[in-house]
Amino acid sequence: MIWEQVLEKFKEVFGGEGDIRIYFAPGRVNLIGEHTDYNGGHVFPCALTIGTYAVARKRDDKKLRFYSMNFEKAGVLESSVEGLKAEETAGWTNYPKGMIWAFGEKGMKAEQGFDLVLYGNIPNGSGLSSSASVEVVTGFLLKDLFDFEVSNKEIALIGQFAENRFNGVNCGIMDQFAIAMGKEGNAIFLDTADLSYEYAPIVLKGAKIVISCSNKKRGLSDSKYNERRSECETALSELQEVIGIETLGDLTEEQFKQYQSAIKDEVRRKRAKHAVCENQRTIRAVDALKKNDLKQFGALMNESHISLRDDYEVTGTELDTLVEEAWKINGVIGSRMTGAGFGGCTVSIVEDGAVDTFIREVGAAYEKKIGYAADFYVVEIGDGPARLA
Ligand code: GLA
Repeated sequence: MIWEQVLEKFKEVFGGEGDIRIYFAPGRVNLIGEHTDYNGGHVFPCALTIGTYAVARKRDDKKLRFYSMNFEKAGVLESSVEGLKAEETAGWTNYPKGMIWAFGEKGMKAEQGFDLVLYGNIPNGSGLSSSASVEVVTGFLLKDLFDFEVSNKEIALIGQFAENRFNGVNCGIMDQFAIAMGKEGNAIFLDTADLSYEYAPIVLKGAKIVISCSNKKRGLSDSKYNERRSECETALSELQEVIGIETLGDLTEEQFKQYQSAIKDEVRRKRAKHAVCENQRTIRAVDALKKNDLKQFGALMNESHISLRDDYEVTGTELDTLVEEAWKINGVIGSRMTGAGFGGCTVSIVEDGAVDTFIREVGAAYEKKIGYAADFYVVEIGDGPARLA
């Protein structure tokens, strides 16, 4: 069991006495609906069985002591529950700190500190939401250690608030929601306009979900993420001059065609086109899945990638290579970049019999073209956060 090793590490670093508790929160992969969650559109992510393990023990004073098994060289990092602010040198600890701060802002102030050891088996910076996973596991353990009354949905919203206001990334709600609300075997069809959602069973008879990790690192804040978001906001306000909508997600493709000339800049028009079409594609994809039409679902995943490549321009050579090589393999049902883009991962649905060929051939072509290797993971859809012991 992984958590037993994390517990051992906790005892080694912080001692084994007292009320030590163990938690887990998953990572996530988005199957379709990319860059729609801050545009009032739909997303279709699922939680994974890989994620973040946390072992924690409440303290009597205000001290915070953090240790990550993923960054062992950094050793124990200390701070206090008072006066928390994000610091560039604080690295990963900005995520748990952001949650403690955000809980305080929402009227749930932790009056004491705690000792924390984390271990994540989500590849770092891969676009599988390792940071949102740390946020949600921290929210979950804060609730449990301090007896706060807070639902998983609220933990997701507080996670987004922490990311936006503490860490300065203007992300949408998808990652924290997918993680906090995850359900084994199901993806979540979420309407980000009002947070209504529905679980959809993912029954891939004879196929698997394969993640290809480009190993090109990406930091959300240094990426063009915030820029894309503001381009969409400007496009929306231009459209609002001619049609009464609240978000780009309110538009059908036909309406977009009719009103797009209100957007005065060609680049912004492309960004808005992606947001509108990707939202409609996501609705259609879930519909196809409900009808067991996996072929159509895969075709829509492929269209999603093309739109992210050509109109939203968030892919890059690494992700395009992974996807374009995947499309060449017999038995690939669909393949696209997933997450924010600019590096990170792709998600593919691959027939069982083609998985080995996929990993071998996409891997070889990628290394030849890019100069370093990609990593591949066959993943399972898991549950949301839990206390393990
Ligand atoms: C990141 C953000 C999400 C979402 C995706 C793109 O993962 O955190 O809110 O916008 O990018 O779909």
